[in-house]
Amino acid sequence: GPPFSDTLVRRLRQARRVAVLTGAGISAESGVPTFRDPDGLWQRFRPEELANVEAFLANPTLVQGWYAHRRQVVEDVEPNAGHYALAELERWVTGRGGQFLLATQNVDGLHERAGSQNLVELHGSLRRSHCLDCGAPAPPPTAPPADADGEGGVARCAACGGLVRPDVVWFGEMLPEDAIGRATEAAALADVYLSVGTSAVVYPAAGLPQVARQAGAYVAEVNPTPSDIAWRLDEQVPGRAGDVLPALVERVTGDE
Ligand code: APR
Ligand code: ZN
Repeated sequence: GPPFSDTLVRRLRQARRVAVLTGAGISAESGVPTFRDPDGLWQRFRPEELANVEAFLANPTLVQGWYAHRRQVVEDVEPNAGHYALAELERWVTGRGGQFLLATQNVDGLHERAGSQNLVELHGSLRRSHCLDCGAPAPPPTAPPADADGEGGVARCAACGGLVRPDVVWFGEMLPEDAIGRATEAAALADVYLSVGTSAVVYPAAGLPQVARQAGAYVAEVNPTPSDIAWRLDEQVPGRAGDVLPALVERVTGDE
């Protein structure tokens, strides 16, 4: 049988409010590398060198080029069945007068492309960039030519000449106020909370399933490998998002 329980199906069918947290694992089957899996980004690069303001100021061309590369990767991939299943679940829940919110840690834009509407991007988005100094939106830098020297290839703000950075939340930075606020409120009010494809090691996002649990939600995780917080949840569904979510949503939305 399926790797999820009848309880989870029943709780989702009865739910008035459903909230979901996703991480890089839901985009793995689209071909987007995760961060902490054996072949993940942080196995090949060091976040200290790429994903914080100090690293950016020390080597803006390197960091702009790395994000340009990551943007290219996500432009070449498609949402997978897991993304589409969550968009369908949202339509089913809201279609019957319920509430649904998807909070993602991913910056790849795949949930939006799959049709998710009630969506918050907790860690920002690769698809947007802005000026480090004046904050003006700026076109995302393209990858500098391979021979770009330290200054030559760097992208600067047309308005003030400041450095252009991606709209992603770097280590040590605050999350967008409204995003974490909406995600926390949705977790606190949820009847059912799904945590999909996240190792749950980066806070405050990783704290959201616990917010939901402490407020009385039925909390399930979908992950081939139990995350750090799996033991605290009601259910750990061992499987890949692209397999589990379509089967789960089919059971929930299918006619009884
Ligand atoms: N389906 C579901 N889960 C999967 C799949 C899959 N097909 N493949 C891998 N996973 C799981 C892994 O087992 C792991 O628990 O996805 C999780 C990915 O964890 P991370 O690579 O740590 O990614 P994430 O949890 O999103 O990282 C959180 O850390 O580096 C920062 O800002 C970055 O948003 C990121 C945050
Ligand atoms: Zn500027």
